[in-house]
Amino acid sequence: MYSGKARAYTNIALIKYWGKENQELIIPMNNSLSLTLDAFYTETEVTFSKELKEDQFYLDNQWQDSKATLKVSRFLDFVRSKTDSSLRAVVKSKNFVPTAAGLASSASGLAALAGAASDALNLNLTPEELSRLARRGSGSACRSIYGGFAEWQKGYSDETSYAVQIPSSDFENDLSMIFVVVNDAQKDISSRDGMQRTVETSAFYDGWLQTVPQDLAKAKKAIKEKDFIALGEVSESSALKMHGTTLAATPPFTYWSAESMKVMNLVRQIRNGGLPCYFTMDAGPNVKLLVERKNEAALLSAMSAHLDAKQLVVAHAGPAIEILSKEDA
Ligand code: ADP
Ligand code: DP6
Ligand code: CO
Repeated sequence: MYSGKARAYTNIALIKYWGKENQELIIPMNNSLSLTLDAFYTETEVTFSKELKEDQFYLDNQWQDSKATLKVSRFLDFVRSKTDSSLRAVVKSKNFVPTAAGLASSASGLAALAGAASDALNLNLTPEELSRLARRGSGSACRSIYGGFAEWQKGYSDETSYAVQIPSSDFENDLSMIFVVVNDAQKDISSRDGMQRTVETSAFYDGWLQTVPQDLAKAKKAIKEKDFIALGEVSESSALKMHGTTLAATPPFTYWSAESMKVMNLVRQIRNGGLPCYFTMDAGPNVKLLVERKNEAALLSAMSAHLDAKQLVVAHAGPAIEILSKEDA
C-alpha cells in the first residue's frame, strides 16, 4: 500500500483564466493571476493498493458514481503513467468549500489530488512540476500549489505551462476577500464547458484576449507597488470582461443571477460612498469582494445591512499546498 495526503486551498483569480488553447493538455489561451485563500480548502487522501480492482472515489464521505469517479481515474491514469505502477487507488476527499458552485472547488480539489497522489507514489516533485501536474486536472488548480499571489504562465506546451509565485513583500496580508454566497448549489454549466463554448462561439472572445496582457501588467505593477486601488480596478475589470464574453456565445449564457447583480451594485454604491472595495466573479453566481484588511469590518457592516450574515464568509491570504502524510506517520 502506498498512501499520500494533502491539503490545498482554493484560489480566486484577479486576472481570469478563460479559455483553452489545448483542451487535452489544459494549456490556457492567456496568463492568469490569483490570490490563494485560507477560508476554503480540500483535504484528499489517496491509497494505492494491489487489493483494488478499480479506482474508488469518496467525496465528503459519499461514494461517487462512475461518472464522477471516471474524472478522478483519468487523472490517476496520468499520474500512474509517470511511474511503472498500475495499482488502483481509493481516493477520499473532503471539500471545505461548496462543490461546483463557482467557489473554485476544482482548484483546491485537483491540487489536493495531485499533491496526495504524487506523495503516495513518491514522485518528489518540485513546486513547478506539481503545478504542471495539477494543471492536468483543472487549470485553476495549478495556482493552488502556492500561497499568496500566483501567476499561471500559459507557456506553449505541457512542459512550459505552470504557475509561479509572485513576489509581493507580504502585500497579500493587507487584503481581505469577502465571499458573498448567494447560492451554493451546483452550477448548470461547468467552467470547462462554459469556457469552451465561449472560445468556440463568442464574437467577444478576441476582445477578451486582446486586453489580458495589459491587465496582467497592471495587476503585477499594483502588487509590486502595494497599490490597492489599482489592483481592485483591474481585477473588477478583468472579471466583467470575462463575463461579457458569455453573453455573445451561442447559445448565450451568463453565470450571473439577480442576486449577483444586486451585490455588484451594492459594492459600487459603497465605493461611491468613499470605502474602497471591488468585486470579482467566477463561473457561478457568487460574488467575491476585495477590500483592504483595515476596511474589512466597515465593509462587512455595510454589506450586512442588506444581506444575511450567514452569506458572508471572510477570507485572507492562504498558504501553499500542505503534504500531510508525513505528519500523520
Ligand atoms: P468550481 O467553480 O467549484 O471550481 P468547476 O466546474 O470548475 O467548479 O469544477 C467542479 C468539478 O471539480 C466537480 O464536478 C468535480 O469534477 C471536480 N472536483 C471538485 N472537488 C473535487 C475534489 N475534492 N476531488 C476531485 N474532484 C473535485
Ligand atoms: C472563471 O480551472 O475550473 O474560475 O481548467 O476546465 O478545470 P478547467 O476550469 P477551471 O476554470 C476556472 C475559470 C474561472 C477563472 C479562474 O479561476 O481563473
Ligand atoms: Co473550477
